[in-house]
Amino acid sequence: MPRGETSNVADGLENVVAAETVLSRVDGEAGALILRGHYLQEVAGRRSFEWLTGLLWQDFVPRPLDEPTLRQDLGVARVRAFAQMADLLPVAGRLPPLAAVRLLLANVPDDAADSPLLLTATVAVGLAAVLRIRNGKHPVPPDPTSGHAADFLRMLKDAVPPADETAALDTYLVSAADHGLNASTFAARVAASTRASLIDAVTAGLCALKGPLHGGAPGPVLDMLDAIGPAENAEAWLDAAVMRGDRLMGFGHRVYRVQDPRSDVVKAVVERLNHDIGRLRYAEAVEKAALAVLVRRKPDRSLQTNLEFYTALLLEALGLPRDAFTGAFAVARVVGWIAHALEQQAGGRLIRPQSTYVGPTPKREGHSSG
Ligand code: ACO
Repeated sequence: MPRGETSNVADGLENVVAAETVLSRVDGEAGALILRGHYLQEVAGRRSFEWLTGLLWQDFVPRPLDEPTLRQDLGVARVRAFAQMADLLPVAGRLPPLAAVRLLLANVPDDAADSPLLLTATVAVGLAAVLRIRNGKHPVPPDPTSGHAADFLRMLKDAVPPADETAALDTYLVSAADHGLNASTFAARVAASTRASLIDAVTAGLCALKGPLHGGAPGPVLDMLDAIGPAENAEAWLDAAVMRGDRLMGFGHRVYRVQDPRSDVVKAVVERLNHDIGRLRYAEAVEKAALAVLVRRKPDRSLQTNLEFYTALLLEALGLPRDAFTGAFAVARVVGWIAHALEQQAGGRLIRPQSTYVGPTPKREGHSSG
């Protein structure tokens, strides 16, 4: 039976408004993202991840949240997170990166007063550590004096990163930190609405992020580029993929009907980084072919490039393995999940929608209907 045919189910909760938030607004018609009173384009590349974190956590996390203090406190939290995960790292290092981060988050003390900082730190420190361990390298301890983006790259590569790579990652973290009621943020808010702990809410967010329709898309973007091969193959390959019912990774969005503004920001970062301009030009050719195929084959839906297409190129250029791309997304989005979970707990009710039952009617044995 086709979905929603027998009832008034809002399939996928499309257009359902399920929360009020001061945190971010996704304007799908204008192609704009507002982060607590600031357009993404105005802050990306100009303001740090720590600045945005302070902005999002304001009124929800009771501690000084100015940029220098938060930078310092997050550095201290990274050191603490690294010490706390030491016993678990040998096990975590054998798991896929996102499962490893899930395990390490479960180890964060549930009632720690600084749990927003510890959770944020654990994602970055844990991801960097497990990526090294699985390559037979020792984990690199955090540098509390460093910024979050720089320290993540340093812990990953055991070298102070070049300024342009730090700036590129920092801009990505700002672009990916919060985005309205996306699937993972909704999951975090649902968990928080039951008055579960912040760790539970963050873990719920992480689990919902993982799938390829959400934060799991950028790794498969590179798989798609590999499969396409030379740019002149792109249109035929992509057309065949759409015709057999596949989704083109890095394209389409539930809310945006025009270009995802995060895609423009991240693409500009890749261009500025200038690591492999040939790769960027190739990706542009594939993007152009994909958009042409989508217009032709899905004329009823405006499907544009989303955040994940150029994110894949950026994280590749920064030297991350593709199975760690979703983890890198979580390094950013964890601060959004925390802000939303705390906002939900501060004023929201239990989130408990209803379902329409379309299963079999029970047989009433011994009861006659007459
Ligand atoms: N490639 C091909 N067709 C697509 C794509 C795509 N990327 N996206 C949507 N469509 C098609 C669907 O097949 C459907 O076609 P139909 O009406 O002929 O059946 C139509 O467009 C509408 O699709 P929905 O599933 O209703 O769109 P929805 O809003 O649920 O999907 C989503 C949004 C999941 C992002 C989708 O566009 C997609 O799967 N994209 C590819 C995966 C991806 O890039 N995910 C990252 C999203 S960004 C982020 O989470 C940070």
